[in-house]
Amino acid sequence: MDAESLDRSIREDIEKADSFESLEQARIKFLGRKGLVTSLLKNIKDASPEERPKLGAVSNRLKQLAEDLIAAKLDSLRAGRVGSRFYTPPIDATLPAHDGVTGRRHVLLEVLRQLKDIFFGMGYSLASGPQVELEYYNFHALNFPDEHPSRDAQDTFYITDDMLLRTHTSPVQVRYMEEHQPPLKIIATGRVFRNESIDPTHAAEFHQIEGLYVDTDVSLADLKRDVEIFVQQVFGSKTRVRFRPSFFPFTEPSAEVDMSCFVCQGRGCSVCGNTGWIEILGSGMVHPNVFRAVGYDPEKYSGFAFGIGVDRVAMLKYGIGDIRLFLGNDLRFLRQF
Ligand code: PHE
Repeated sequence: MDAESLDRSIREDIEKADSFESLEQARIKFLGRKGLVTSLLKNIKDASPEERPKLGAVSNRLKQLAEDLIAAKLDSLRAGRVGSRFYTPPIDATLPAHDGVTGRRHVLLEVLRQLKDIFFGMGYSLASGPQVELEYYNFHALNFPDEHPSRDAQDTFYITDDMLLRTHTSPVQVRYMEEHQPPLKIIATGRVFRNESIDPTHAAEFHQIEGLYVDTDVSLADLKRDVEIFVQQVFGSKTRVRFRPSFFPFTEPSAEVDMSCFVCQGRGCSVCGNTGWIEILGSGMVHPNVFRAVGYDPEKYSGFAFGIGVDRVAMLKYGIGDIRLFLGNDLRFLRQF
């Protein structure tokens, strides 16, 4: 092999070596006892006196080249930069730099996390149910009469005659009670769907937190205490609550809960529509028919339930004027939180 091809062969073989074994083979091929470079060196003495210095210089240069390249490759292998077994991709310094934008939680998820934390601190645990729900759980077991307007296809997204997108998180109450015995204290969070005409305060998809506490001797006073603690943790310790009589088929009595306006402290402003109060959740004492549907004895057990609109809390907390922003995927909005 002439010096030029040998030079090329040394470079190629050592470059190709991707393990200690293949590098050792390359070393033997060129620098071993019968190696190509070694033989070249041995041949010097047989060369004519005129050729000898030139051949000597070439052989020594090739020997040095092979030794240097092998030493460098050995370093790379030891550092794990090459080699099939420990391969880590090299950094491509030609790629464009990171634009400095990092991801973050969606504002609704962040609010949900804070609200869940408050309830966990009050001894609630987490339950969940499906978004595609049976008519039975969404309405029937919750004591909705057959002709109730919210059952209408005008208000509700039906999948089949007896399956729909849940209109609230209350069906999780039934599912949970079917599987567990009192005492129980749970929240259930998630997305709900209603066929609303969409405007700044109404979306067809929004989020709720359902609360349910069942034991012997649970009273309205227990409901008031938990709701008050919750509202004060979210909106400040000066916040007051008031209960207004209301109606839900699955609670009796039922109450709409208002909190004193956290902006004007109840004096009246644009946030509370000059009333001093802001509606924050629906609630009530679990209806005996719901207990019957899950096989609980209504004479033995009592309980309360409530439903909070997460989107609404987030809008109030951050002064967001349009519920549609939550679903809009507009980074100019989302990056503010
Ligand atoms: N499910 C009711 C709604 O979506 C809220 C609610 C929950 C009311 C629990 C009372 C008890 O409007």
